[in-house]
Amino acid sequence: MYAAFKHIHLLTVAISLGFFVLRGVWMLSGSALLQKKWVKILPHIVDTLLLVSAIGLMFQIGQYPMTDGWLTAKLLGLIAYIVLGTIALKRGKTQGTRILAFVAALAVIAYIVGVALRHNALSWLA
Ligand code: HEM
Repeated sequence: MYAAFKHIHLLTVAISLGFFVLRGVWMLSGSALLQKKWVKILPHIVDTLLLVSAIGLMFQIGQYPMTDGWLTAKLLGLIAYIVLGTIALKRGKTQGTRILAFVAALAVIAYIVGVALRHNALSWLA
């Protein structure tokens, strides 16, 4: 079961990140694809699977947010990624705001991956 959750987690992380970058490019180029229904729905499906696999992994290794600092950091990181992502792709009023939010979201992802690999909230610095 652990291996299955891990595979789903890593796969959905990769799809979530890849599709976010793609939508970022569409945002920058003013592409109409960004407004397509499936483009708006797909990330919700992927992010739900990402979270479900994360919860499965948590129970497999018996470590949880609020108890284990690195998982609290991952959860807060995921929320920051989602908020920055919606500013970058939807809510940002100016192109400058959107680009800033897009770059910040990528930095948050880099932080989360470091936290995941080191099991430490200090991420790559640990
Ligand atoms: C965009 C968000 C996320 C990214 C980029 C991400 C990335 C990763 C990566 C790369 C691993 C593999 C680590 C390794 O091989 O040692 C991993 C494992 C894991 N992740 Fe995530 N993750 C995210 C969100 C979350 C969230 C929100 C939670 C739960 C609060 C979570 C819980 C876990 C757990 C429990 C493991 C297993 C660690 C282990 O096997 O020791 N992840 N994650």
